[in-house]
Amino acid sequence: MTTSYETREHDVLIIGAGGAGLRAAIEALAKGCSVGVVCKSLLGKAHTVMAEGGIAAAMCNVDTEDGWKPHFRDTMRGGKYLNNWRMAQLHAQEAPDRVRELEQWGALFDRTDKGAILQRAFGGHTYKRLCHVGDRTGLEMIRTLQDRGVQLGFDVYMECTVTRLLTDGGRVAGAFGYWRENGRFIVFKAKSVVIATGGIGKAWPVTSNSWEYTGDGMTLAYEAGAELMDMEFVQFHPTGMVWPPGVQGLLVTEAVRGEGGILRNKLGERFMEKYDPKRMELSTRDVVARSIYTEVKEGRGTEHGGAYLDISHKPADYVKKKLPSMYHQFKELADVDITKGPMEVGPTCHYVMGGIRVDAETAQSTLPGLFAAGEAAAGLHGSNRLGGNSLSDLLVFGRRAGMAAAEHAKRVSHAGLAASQIEEAEKELLAPFSNTGAESPYGVHRDLQKVMQSLVGIFRTEEDLKKAFEELEQLKARAAKASVEGSRLFNPGWHLARELKSLLTVSEAVALSALARAESRGAHSRIDFPNYDPVWEKKHNVIVREGTEMKRVESPVEPMPEDLKQFVMAD
Ligand code: FUM
Repeated sequence: MTTSYETREHDVLIIGAGGAGLRAAIEALAKGCSVGVVCKSLLGKAHTVMAEGGIAAAMCNVDTEDGWKPHFRDTMRGGKYLNNWRMAQLHAQEAPDRVRELEQWGALFDRTDKGAILQRAFGGHTYKRLCHVGDRTGLEMIRTLQDRGVQLGFDVYMECTVTRLLTDGGRVAGAFGYWRENGRFIVFKAKSVVIATGGIGKAWPVTSNSWEYTGDGMTLAYEAGAELMDMEFVQFHPTGMVWPPGVQGLLVTEAVRGEGGILRNKLGERFMEKYDPKRMELSTRDVVARSIYTEVKEGRGTEHGGAYLDISHKPADYVKKKLPSMYHQFKELADVDITKGPMEVGPTCHYVMGGIRVDAETAQSTLPGLFAAGEAAAGLHGSNRLGGNSLSDLLVFGRRAGMAAAEHAKRVSHAGLAASQIEEAEKELLAPFSNTGAESPYGVHRDLQKVMQSLVGIFRTEEDLKKAFEELEQLKARAAKASVEGSRLFNPGWHLARELKSLLTVSEAVALSALARAESRGAHSRIDFPNYDPVWEKKHNVIVREGTEMKRVESPVEPMPEDLKQFVMAD
């Protein structure tokens, strides 16, 4: 029996209000659509701000030899050729225009002596390519996009969680959700839906992600019949804070290394000489994260189980100007003055390269009318993302998703909303109030994080991954019994009970794909299969839903056109 709910209608509904969601909204508005933006947190509070060091775009302001082709090559090489080549091409070609556009909308950037946007070095980028404003680039981007979107006039639904996509005859028809504040239900009728909900970091205990990142968008898409892809590739950013415990995992931007920061172990050795003597601290994230992890594991870690990252050889004024947030973060949270001594850092779960499978040109998923952009979508980054390529990804594919969603909305009329789907969604959401046992959603979440950290972390083995499955099965059974007290008003335990479903879905998808990929590539490191396997270079893992079962199938990697291949492979 359906309880009461409010209904809202939009041409395009965007779920998620980080960089990708806001950029999509701006584009759909510009195409004359009515746009609703739903975010489970406050507008402007998004993981986009954790991409601190810059937007990767071949503007050629500092290194004039750069261009879209070298950017494309670095992205493909960084992703170990599992990237969707067309997405990587569009990304490299369009990123400079997206940055210029952002500037026209009011974004401030650091400047070269000649007044152009300043660009800095970052891991895996051959040239100085990251357009930045100190170490607050993501924040500046969100601020600008938010101003622009509000000015153009989208409707915002803040602190509102979508729990189910509604479908009709094999296409998306809308979404069901609830207001976090009072627990009341809301139904959205929409011709197109864009998922831009970011990643899955909260499945791990040590993460740069905040509470919002529970894999909701990927789970919504999967449950509605869309495919997920490349879920085994989870990025551990090499440098998160390791001390004090309350801030463990908080991001220490790669810009510290971009500005010349040096990594050492407790013996004072500059250990990157061993792991990547050519690129040293500016190696790709997968390599640096594994190097730090190995140093710690082999007994050369710092007092609190990390590595030292030192920028204090640079003038104090320079450090404060280029890395103001890092300076304050360490001073206030760890009582460390980074202009005088080193920081302690270690790997932190930061990003997932996998996600919803999309078409390169339109960002449409395999479910008609459903689009995805940003971290929620798969393809661009292959098996490992280069730092700074996420902010450019959000701009390039946020715009493309918004544009295609608007075009789709103009072509179709509103589909019907099935009362049975709404009833099911209500029933599922309210179930934790009827459960009577002592199982707490917090306990299940804590145990899930332990499983993912210890068995599906930086290094993986068949034995661990099989064990992870057994544990995940038990956790799913516990989550189904999780009970909550109180009412629907201000009830965080209830919210978490719902989020467990997403966390468990994406965790299973990661473990299933990681077990199948019997090789090491990019961010996926199998101790039992330490090398590349050329067979796996040609295959994606795709996750599909069959009834209530999660299934893994394989799909061929689309080969690069010969001219691009020659360029990428040449030395
Ligand atoms: O280290 C950073 O500033 C993060 C950048 C990114 O994830 O792209």
